[in-house]
Amino acid sequence: MFDSLWVDAHLATMIPGPEPYGSIRDGAVGIRGGHIAWIGRRADLPGTPGALARQVHSAEGGWITPGLIDCHTHAVFGGNRAQEFEARLRGISYAELARQGGGILSTVRATRAASREELTRGAAFRLQDLATDGVTTVEVKSGYGLTVADELRMLRAAREAGPMAGVEVKGTLLALHAVPPEFSGRRDAYLDLAANEMLPAALGEGLITAVDAFLEGIAFAPREVEPFFRRARDAGLVLRLHADQLEDGDGGRYAAEWGAASADHLEYTSDDGARAMGRAGVTAVLLPGAYLVLGAERRPPVASFRNHGVDMAVATDLNPGSSPVRSLRLAMNLACTLFGLTPEEALCGVTRHAASAMGLSDRGQLREGLRADLAIWGVDHPSELSYWLGGASPLLARVKAGVPVHA
Ligand code: NIG
Ligand code: FE
Repeated sequence: MFDSLWVDAHLATMIPGPEPYGSIRDGAVGIRGGHIAWIGRRADLPGTPGALARQVHSAEGGWITPGLIDCHTHAVFGGNRAQEFEARLRGISYAELARQGGGILSTVRATRAASREELTRGAAFRLQDLATDGVTTVEVKSGYGLTVADELRMLRAAREAGPMAGVEVKGTLLALHAVPPEFSGRRDAYLDLAANEMLPAALGEGLITAVDAFLEGIAFAPREVEPFFRRARDAGLVLRLHADQLEDGDGGRYAAEWGAASADHLEYTSDDGARAMGRAGVTAVLLPGAYLVLGAERRPPVASFRNHGVDMAVATDLNPGSSPVRSLRLAMNLACTLFGLTPEEALCGVTRHAASAMGLSDRGQLREGLRADLAIWGVDHPSELSYWLGGASPLLARVKAGVPVHA
């Protein structure tokens, strides 16, 4: 007996195989104990729906995909940077704004000044936007607090905002995002604080499953990231890396050497970097929102990633500066139109490959034994999820760990 059974549905299982989208026409999904207990063609069900399940749901002839996963966001922050948006349109660059004390550091000031309630409420609104696009899991990074207390406050706000929006939040400690002003000229002291105080505190409170670092000329160097990554790896945390966004810092290879689950941005990653990522199984997270908003000059090497068998994920990078993108469907469209992904690759990028980018093996596909996180769509074909730009979401319903949820 299933707790519930979904019928009148086509399924985009996203299981690799000969069938595009791993699709099953006229399928059914049986759910028990929050997990997928049965999946296949409706005609192969071992009985009538009413006899098999306590509750039978109709998908109205639409499509069921895995619940979408936004695997890279900075959804907790104070204030916003609409004025920097205006300044950039007047011709002042992102790097110039950062040098003037704007950019990430302006959001650090606003985040430190915000109460935990303000942070939580702001994040919950943004996570609700993601939920209307069928998202059931969101990775949320810290990185605008940059003190022990403020990083923890951000992560607690992320944890509280998840249930308010009906999504599961996984926290990531991005302590190495920028050196805060009070540590200028004392970088090593900040690195010490990040690895030896922030990390154990966030871990001890159960707020994180991953760490991240901004490896870039304007941010942190490989040798600076090392102690933070070593401590995180020893603690069994997933490693993520912002890499090669503004220049080739050999970030793809660095992520591979560390066994990172993902390297993100990657506009300047070399073919060698892509090869190293392929060998080590590092997922490439593509963030077309930041590429678009910053007017970047280079696209990530999608052809190299394909050649070297690198899995590609797609995410919003939702943040107040480089990517105020509040729709994962929009990020999917941009990944297709700006980076040349196929709609199938884009959907894979927000399901199966997004799960790998987060080091999660219990979701991201419609497969027996995995969590019953589903998105039910009123579309004729799953390519429509990447096709429409703007407008109301075609989402009919979401199911999180077996339970229908409303944002
Ligand atoms: O992923 N690259 C670094 N961090 C963010 C930008 C954050 C900001 O501008 O506030 C990113 O694009
Ligand atoms: Fe980011």
